[in-house]
Amino acid sequence: MATALTRPDVDIKSLDPYAFLAVLGKRVIHPGGRRSTEELFRLADTQPGQRALDVGCGVGTTAIELARRFGADVTAVDISSMMLERALANVRRAGIGERVHVGRGDILALEFADDSFDRVIAEAVTMFVDRPSAAAELVRVCRPGGRVLATEFLWRKPPTDAARELLLGQLCPGMQFDNLDGWLQIYAKAGLADIEVRSGPFELMTARGFIKDEGLVNAAACMARGLAKPARVRKMAWMMPRLRMAVPYLGYVLVAGVKPSVG
Ligand SMILES: C[S@@+](CC[C@H](N)C(=O)[O-])C[C@H]1O[C@@H](n2cnc3c(N)ncnc32)[C@H](O)[C@@H]1O
Repeated sequence: MATALTRPDVDIKSLDPYAFLAVLGKRVIHPGGRRSTEELFRLADTQPGQRALDVGCGVGTTAIELARRFGADVTAVDISSMMLERALANVRRAGIGERVHVGRGDILALEFADDSFDRVIAEAVTMFVDRPSAAAELVRVCRPGGRVLATEFLWRKPPTDAARELLLGQLCPGMQFDNLDGWLQIYAKAGLADIEVRSGPFELMTARGFIKDEGLVNAAACMARGLAKPARVRKMAWMMPRLRMAVPYLGYVLVAGVKPSVG
């Protein structure tokens, strides 16, 4: 069966950078890489049997680890068919299908009742949509006393006009984010209390960060897939210099908070 990895290069040119990375077989596709996911796991303090929701799950890497390492009952949703296909295949390969349920979901209109989950996670998702509405939706489906955790891009220092245009105008049109205070305000207004933050540089696409996140073998496999087809080589040649210009200004922030109990 043709999958997103083996299918001919359908529309590679118009793929978002993160979708392109998924096509290359990259498993970690958010600004803080594995480092921020480990920080997220520590702050989430997920207990065995707890219900966790991973919104915008991508290829399912964090959802699988949440189930495997912490014994959570995980629901993983994404809006993209290509990501869902990859996530399902990875969950199956991990042999963890009974504890990770993959399905379609839109962060702006999650099909879950209020207070459904003990932990709600979104790694690099809210910035693609209306951020206050997305944050409110994450908090809505979390139970009182439960935790919401989100990783986002941020500007570590004010970008030059050129760097901003390259990232938000060309690489990821429509994406929106600001500095740490801006994110704090969004999540506080969405109703989170006891907010903690972690922050660091954007290393996902540096050689060091890539190898740290993927391991040598998968990093090499991603590179080989990138070089395997002219459309992919062209995409990388277009993407990398633009990204390099934006990287010095970029970082990640992890926001973690508690949904207050009522009364
Ligand atoms: C940067 S990737 C992050 C993927 C994954 N969370 C990770 O960290 O590897 C952004 C993800 O958000 C998904 N996404 C974008 N808009 C969405 C929406 N409105 N609802 C749900 N997922 C969305 C994309 O399909 C993609 O999988």
